Amino acid sequence: MRAEPVVRGPVLAQMTGAEHTAKRKIVVRCFTGQALQDRLRAIHANAVELMAPFLPRGRVDLVNDFGKPFAVHVTLDVLGLDRKDWQQVAAWHSGVAEFITSPALTPERRRHCMECAEQLEAYLVPVIEQRRRRPGEDLISQLCTAEFDGVAMSNRDVTALIINVLAASTEPADKTLALLFKHLIDHPEQLAQVRQDPNLLPAAIAETLRFTPPVQLIPRQAEKDTVFAGTTVPAGATVFCMIGAANRDPGAFTSPDTFDIHRPYLGAARSFTAAARHLSFGTGLHQCVGAAFARAETETVAAMLLPRLDQVRYSPGFRYRETGLYTRGPVALPLDFTPVHGLG
Ligand code: HEM
Repeated sequence: MRAEPVVRGPVLAQMTGAEHTAKRKIVVRCFTGQALQDRLRAIHANAVELMAPFLPRGRVDLVNDFGKPFAVHVTLDVLGLDRKDWQQVAAWHSGVAEFITSPALTPERRRHCMECAEQLEAYLVPVIEQRRRRPGEDLISQLCTAEFDGVAMSNRDVTALIINVLAASTEPADKTLALLFKHLIDHPEQLAQVRQDPNLLPAAIAETLRFTPPVQLIPRQAEKDTVFAGTTVPAGATVFCMIGAANRDPGAFTSPDTFDIHRPYLGAARSFTAAARHLSFGTGLHQCVGAAFARAETETVAAMLLPRLDQVRYSPGFRYRETGLYTRGPVALPLDFTPVHGLG
């Protein structure tokens, strides 16, 4: 509900029952199975292209030079939006994300965020109308042609789901990638193991998500008075379920403050499904629809980067800083590595 002013309509997180199941299914279809497999080649090619200018220099800021544009490009491709608009869409998206993820906003920031949302909506509505007339394979077309209760979704409903997916898919992506490299650089023996055996990558990504979840909390509203751990949570109260804390619960994880890609329950088979021990993708009916996609996206790009970033280390003078409460990640991650010439 808090997101509704900038998302311009209802999002999956606030839906229940048949409506939630039906609309969630449309999104899931575009991010799993064959659709995901088809997407991976484009993700790899896009990552190679974005990284190319930085290779001969031997220096890249993994958040701002690479991760952020990469995350927006990938989402635009799935939605079927033009990549050349990425900077504009990224600017609008950052206003929307600021509104959703900030516990408090000054009136000026609030106005800025609302303007971003209005401009994003004005950009999307003509696209939606065009896809209604000439649908393609992309997610916007799927949303435009789907019916719920025998009725097509309105432009407002489709706009809300597009912005929902744009924010949900883009916000955690660059953070996950940067945090993966940070932890591996901080643990050189584990970095060497991953370089030697790329099959360890899914476990390294899963441990990154457990150790430093990019989505730190899930807000919920209590439906009725509920006693929880001896405290009454009154009906209507907002509860922040802290994923970051749950993932460091010593009752659930041995040495929770240690980054260890060899934890026995990590790995692709569990960590990106409802059976995951960590809570980085949430749990229950509203568990993330993009978990398999996020794994494939991060794995593809990390497998592309690792051999290219030989002798990877922090750039001289770098001081690590994180930002964000709802979603959290490094402000920047400037890295030096052995310059590469002529690698496509
Ligand atoms: C590492 C990457 C990701 C992380 C850590 C993450 C995390 C989460 C979390 C914690 C939730 C639960 C929210 C709640 O219960 O209210 C969620 C829901 C969701 N995520 Fe992700 N997500 C990631 C990637 C993606 C991607 C790539 C997509 C693309 C579609 C996506 C789409 C969604 C959507 C649409 C929901 C709402 C589902 C619902 O309410 O039924 N996420 N995500």
